[in-house]
Amino acid sequence: MAGDALIELRGVNKHYGALHVLQDIDLTVARGEVVVIIGPSGSGKSTLCRTINRLETIESGTILLDGVPLPQEGRALARLRADVGMVFQSFNLFAHRTVLDNVTLAPVKVRRQRKADAERRARALLDRVGLAAHAAKYPAQLSGGQQQRVAIARALAMEPKALLFDEPTSALDPEMINEVLEVMRQLAREGMTMVVVTHEMGFARSAAHRVVFMADGRIVEDRAPEEFFAAPRSARARDFLAKILKH
Ligand SMILES: Nc1ncnc2c1ncn2[C@@H]1O[C@H](COP(=O)(O)OP(=O)(O)OP(=O)(O)O)[C@@H](O)[C@H]1O
Ligand SMILES: [Mg+2]
Repeated sequence: MAGDALIELRGVNKHYGALHVLQDIDLTVARGEVVVIIGPSGSGKSTLCRTINRLETIESGTILLDGVPLPQEGRALARLRADVGMVFQSFNLFAHRTVLDNVTLAPVKVRRQRKADAERRARALLDRVGLAAHAAKYPAQLSGGQQQRVAIARALAMEPKALLFDEPTSALDPEMINEVLEVMRQLAREGMTMVVVTHEMGFARSAAHRVVFMADGRIVEDRAPEEFFAAPRSARARDFLAKILKH
């Protein structure tokens, strides 16, 4: 697997002013691998995700996608963004566009797909996330769980090499969390490369190949979920798990 790294961070550092938010981050995600990132609030999980598709710049280190360093700007950067889909806590759908438009806009504009082709693929993707009947609706007419599934379909429509999820279920009511996690589990089974920041430990146990625990801008543990949950090595991870498993 080591020869087939899709995402590779080597010695990545980033500051926000005096705050050293990412400290010597080394992380490799193989093709088809699902890596769950956990850790206390403020530990740098979102920042790490955002550096991977260069929504944030870094000060030192390198990030490779499919063996190629992240481009600095311009067309190459736009192409990279299209290769790494991102799903956020807050869905970020276009409110004044239908569900179908939300899924077809980028493939038509960025991937230059013909509208009819993009729509055909979008309908297939909406079917896959259980929303075939909702294509003509607007985001506000959907539940949070449905909106997040549209966001996933929208990301998939770009045929990304990898998907990043930053707390995709944190804004959802409990009864909707599972319908989103189920779509993500299905993607994992199909071999999608995924980096997932989440507090859903059930998902981490069942779907992740590796769990990365972050604290204070560092990767403290990077291990198989069964090992990590059975016996976290660091006091920080033990404290963190004790807190969140109580909820
Ligand atoms: N744009 C910014 N400017 C300055 N500081 C920032 C900025 N974005 C994040 N930070 C700080 O960087 C640290 C890491 O933030 P980040 O959002 O990556 O943490 P996180 O692990 O995702 O936390 P949470 O679990 O609360 O989402 C925090 O201390 C945060 O306040
Ligand atoms: Mg965050």
